[in-house]
Amino acid sequence: MRPLLATPEPVATGRVQVRGLDGILSELETSRVDFACVGKTLQELRKRLVCCYPPCGEAVLVRRQFHRGGTACSVSAEFVPRPRAGKEIRYVKVLVTGSSGLIGSEAVEYFDRQGHEVTGVDNNMRREFFGPAGDTLWNLERLKRATKRFTHAELDIRDRVAMEELVRTQHFDLIVHCAAQPSHDKAREIPLLDFEVNALGTVNLLEATRQHLPEAVFVFLSTNKVYGDAPNEIPLKELEKRYDYARAEDYAGIDETCRIDRTLHSLFGASKAAADLVAQEYGRYFKMKVGVFRGGCLTGPSHSGVELHGFLSYLVKVTLSGGTYSVFGYKGKQVRDNIHSHDVVRAIEEFAANPRPGEVYNLGGGRANSISILEAVERIEQMSGKKLTWRYVEEARKGDHICYISNLAKFKKDYPQWKITRGLDAILEEIIASQRKPLP
Ligand SMILES: NC(=O)c1ccc[n+]([C@@H]2O[C@H](COP(=O)([O-])OP(=O)(O)OC[C@H]3O[C@@H](n4cnc5c(N)ncnc54)[C@H](O)[C@@H]3O)[C@@H](O)[C@H]2O)c1
Repeated sequence: MRPLLATPEPVATGRVQVRGLDGILSELETSRVDFACVGKTLQELRKRLVCCYPPCGEAVLVRRQFHRGGTACSVSAEFVPRPRAGKEIRYVKVLVTGSSGLIGSEAVEYFDRQGHEVTGVDNNMRREFFGPAGDTLWNLERLKRATKRFTHAELDIRDRVAMEELVRTQHFDLIVHCAAQPSHDKAREIPLLDFEVNALGTVNLLEATRQHLPEAVFVFLSTNKVYGDAPNEIPLKELEKRYDYARAEDYAGIDETCRIDRTLHSLFGASKAAADLVAQEYGRYFKMKVGVFRGGCLTGPSHSGVELHGFLSYLVKVTLSGGTYSVFGYKGKQVRDNIHSHDVVRAIEEFAANPRPGEVYNLGGGRANSISILEAVERIEQMSGKKLTWRYVEEARKGDHICYISNLAKFKKDYPQWKITRGLDAILEEIIASQRKPLP
């Protein structure tokens, strides 16, 4: 068992459990949590852990994950949620699809920690899409260890009968649909499979929900690729290391009024747009509590990053492993906005508490968390102390965005409690720490 360290700064008051791989290492009742006292063995790995303070102030999580010789391990320190006096917590049943993936696993952990009962559906299809590097079993194993009320079902969302039965028999209050073929470029090799997973799988779940749980909240993880390359029509200026919007009115980024048709989407963008529209329809036509989130770059330590999907996770992986990273077109100045998976799940939680049927929201890191590839390489090199070998490929990815920053104004207006809690440095630090092999 290897407890990892957090900053010695006091983080809050409460009961803290420090968990190792094989159970609870220690439990402290304290008002000043000095994590250095907990895990002296790995002083050299000391790094700032990310602390998050949900607005309700009920729980604080401090987590560290790492890989040891390819095996994922995790240690976490956690404030057990404690309702404030007079505040009632309603425990619900949550279904998360794609539960071994980046967003799905964050949702599982988050809702489990809140005391809810979580069922996860994942058939590890990411491995089928991307090979062994995309395998998510390590994350499933981690979840089994890290959670208390999580049940995993190895089902395929394309299997309509299985989805119908699951939804009919389990009475979920919230469905968080994250399972997908998530790669823009991969879709061209597998157009039918891509459409079946992204479009058909989504309508299978929506229809099962309409039939059996019409009162449930349904959140669909869509993508900014539904806008195709329309965002590239916005006038840009070229700076030394990035492109940026040329006009002041575009400064905050792309909002939900951007058109989604008559653009080049990639087959992935098209299958997700089909799912996005059908999800909106279940909200608007059937008045179900469906919310659609169009993600920018979603990121975090639980990503099984591969070249074809998982920008920062894969970039860190190649930097640390000493491989060669390929930059495709736009001189490496293309810009992405990055949001930590925790902030995505918090947005889902806000929507679930006050759903607006059929509403669509852009959800990314926004301008403050935007970075170009050149800037990201430089930042990761500085933070990791490793030099990245990269090659430049002239031809850009088909339909790739040159500068994409999510305008978060609509979501922030409808859900003012929500905010980005993790900046780029904290995100990168966490990803680097999670991928770094522990010192012997
Ligand atoms: N990661 C990003 O940058 C990003 C950006 C925009 C939108 N999104 C969307 O967010 C959602 C979650 O993305 P992610 O990054 O967590 O992806 P991920 O690949 O990490 O997770 C998806 C999970 O779904 C599972 N899955 C795939 N097909 C399945 C099937 N047929 N049945 C059951 N499980 C299946 C995979 O095994 C995987 O574990 C997806 O809908 C994706 O399109 C992601």
